[in-house]
Amino acid sequence: MRDTISAPISGALPDAVPGTVVTGGASHSLRHESAAMHVAGAAAYIDDMPEPKGLLHVVPGLSTRAHARIVSMDLDAVRAAPGVVRVLTAADIPGHNQVSPVGRNDEPLLATDLVSYYGQPIFAVVAETRLQARHAARLARIEYEDLPAILDIAQARAAGGAMVWRPLTMQRGDAPSGLAASPRRVAGRITMGGQEHFYLEGQAAMAQPGEEGEMRVWSSTQHPTETQHMVAHVLDRPSNLVTTEIRRMGGGFGGKETQANTPACLAALAAELTGRAAKIRLDRDDDMMMTGKRHDFVVDYDVGFDDDGRIRAVDMVLAARCGWSADLSGPVTDRALFHADNAYYYPDVRLRSEPLKTNTQSNTAYRGFGGPQGIVAAERVIEEIAFATGLDPLDVRLRNVYGTGTRDLTPYHMTVEDSISADIMAKLADDCAYRARRAALRAANEGSPHIRRGIALTPVKFGISFTATHYNQAGALVHVYTDGSVQVNHGGTEMGQGLHTKMVQIAMREFGLPADRVRITATTTGKVPNTSATAASSGADLNGMAVLDAVRRIKDRLVEFAAGHWGVDAAQVRFLPDGVHVGATVVPFPDLTRAAYFARVSMSSSGFYKTPKISWNAETGRGRPFFYFAYGAACAEVAIDLLTGETRIEQVDILHDAGQSLNPAIDIGQIEGGFVQGAGWLTTEELVWDASGRLRTHAPSTYKVPACSDRPRRFTVKLLDHAPNREDTIFRSKAVGEPPFVHGVAVLHAISDALASIDGYRTCPRLDAPATPETILRTTERMRGLAAPCPVG
Ligand code: MTE
Ligand code: HPA
Ligand code: MOS
Repeated sequence: MRDTISAPISGALPDAVPGTVVTGGASHSLRHESAAMHVAGAAAYIDDMPEPKGLLHVVPGLSTRAHARIVSMDLDAVRAAPGVVRVLTAADIPGHNQVSPVGRNDEPLLATDLVSYYGQPIFAVVAETRLQARHAARLARIEYEDLPAILDIAQARAAGGAMVWRPLTMQRGDAPSGLAASPRRVAGRITMGGQEHFYLEGQAAMAQPGEEGEMRVWSSTQHPTETQHMVAHVLDRPSNLVTTEIRRMGGGFGGKETQANTPACLAALAAELTGRAAKIRLDRDDDMMMTGKRHDFVVDYDVGFDDDGRIRAVDMVLAARCGWSADLSGPVTDRALFHADNAYYYPDVRLRSEPLKTNTQSNTAYRGFGGPQGIVAAERVIEEIAFATGLDPLDVRLRNVYGTGTRDLTPYHMTVEDSISADIMAKLADDCAYRARRAALRAANEGSPHIRRGIALTPVKFGISFTATHYNQAGALVHVYTDGSVQVNHGGTEMGQGLHTKMVQIAMREFGLPADRVRITATTTGKVPNTSATAASSGADLNGMAVLDAVRRIKDRLVEFAAGHWGVDAAQVRFLPDGVHVGATVVPFPDLTRAAYFARVSMSSSGFYKTPKISWNAETGRGRPFFYFAYGAACAEVAIDLLTGETRIEQVDILHDAGQSLNPAIDIGQIEGGFVQGAGWLTTEELVWDASGRLRTHAPSTYKVPACSDRPRRFTVKLLDHAPNREDTIFRSKAVGEPPFVHGVAVLHAISDALASIDGYRTCPRLDAPATPETILRTTERMRGLAAPCPVG
């Protein structure tokens, strides 16, 4: 459990500064708008919605080959099975058999004559009940002719290195000559595994046909607009006939940014062809077999440095297993390069990506979107330098962080204007007594043959904005009703992260209203069109500004009306918690709205926002892809058992920069959850494919996500105080969704520190991720010189 949190949690009103442009100001820990419903089991997810009359159930039939030609497909037994109403194949698709989210035409909704991974949907059964559909799906007889399958990064490279996207090179200065001129040099390799999203609510959608080709789709999607477009393409109709709606997801974590489209399209296709409502809710095993995950990476690095541990030059190749189609692998591998510097200045640098094509699930967005993989590589480089020089890794970090005004240019030629990494690390190290504890642990390890302890303190610097510049826009729609109650709608989706709560808070603060007067409604393409995915941590940044824009437009009209009606100056109209101050009179908000209605004042408005200042050109490798950076640092202490390879996280301290937090309680929750998810990625979560390309870890029985008992024994999370965003973001807050995921990296390095004790801290353990008990035991053997050295470097 956490020992302390820095912010009080209360249901009190925010400090409202209405009618003025607010910068900074008090933030407020309003509880999550669905908190009570979450704990009572009353919050409705797709499968909880009232079922329309005649609802049918859809279950996909999946490929059992990694790469094969379909020679024949006999679905007669499927069609004849009890309860089956229809069987869908590619031939039944009225429009395009294509769900590539990036216009690559490399992702058929249903396979035709070729399957490209084990788990690919080939057909779908539509039946009266879900169980009937599940049983029927097993009766298909499909004859395959196997083709050579490429399953991982090594095989992809050996076969010529086909890619799903253009590789990217980022460079500044001249890395090869910088390396040659460096006094010292280390080269090596780190591999890190992928990660299953394990959203509690699996992929799910329900579709209902309407009049004249209308289709309503409820989808557990992070990207309702894209889901709308995909359904429209598959059904061959304009977007104005398709409406997508989502009240909330039971988690998305990036796994529903694009990969919710296939289930939604299958439900819509079933509804279209049967004329009845249809629902799909993927079985957990099918979900894990079908959908893409975090990309696993192999990174080769070459670093030049001096005796003081200062980096001179870095050359890295970051190869990713992308799976069978492009999906988001282009921007994911780009973002890995954007973060392969983490918080560090590289004088001469070259970074190259290899988005490799494989016959596996199409890997996709996952919290951090490639950033964590780049950062893990950067931190390994730091660790190598620490062991080579004998310095404390924290000192190597402090010597290499970006400066301000000097040593401040990133590999993509964006200037870091506000590097606060050194301050954050120094403050956290003080607060949690890093140096004293490190010395004590080392001393204790000497007398402890089996249990070894380790500690590490790692920073994060995370770039905020979609790197595809056009995605950085948002819309909102706000209605004020005559009784003074307010409905807020915006283009973002709620997946547990508290976005809706923050949007409600913005309207509360601006109108001076309590929480129960502001209602958030489900996200729908019918209210706010042409939206971006809720992703890249920018949900609150983008939609918050759009909500503010809509609210301010309404307020402007109300101010003008009130000033005229009561005969005061517009500057004397202010929206405060006790009512609307109109000169010396306090008018209850509902009295104002009623009066405004009779005076025929419009009290509804859309709002819009686009992020300023940003640009990025992948051709030149230059630009300002990020509006700003979010910062933080984490210190982790672990104990490992050298006999079993088990790890226990003893203590974690995190200091994180959420700017002027919009909601400290929610932000601290995001940091806690992000850390645990990041630590899970790097320790217990391991994906295993067999030689046929079949994922063998497709259920919680074989895939180990963190449980409550895996949380740190002592867990302290603090927000950086007095740290308003220097850029003009919504109330000077900073995005908080993804950056804290990276704090899990401290655990990997703490384990590595514990392992280093085996040979008296002389050599870098070169610990790969995930650091499962098996990996820890293998590394222990290697460190003891009992096994042959790992083929690294
Ligand atoms: N928190 C919860 N509880 N559930 C989620 O699915 N997704 C994460 C993060 N935090 C997620 C979450 C990811 S991947 C992103 S990009 C952001 O939330 C998206 O929301 P935001 O932009 O509103 O922060
Ligand atoms: N982050 C997250 N999701 C995205 C991005 C990004 O940069 N680009 C496209 N989808
Ligand atoms: Mo988050 S990976 O950008 O959905």
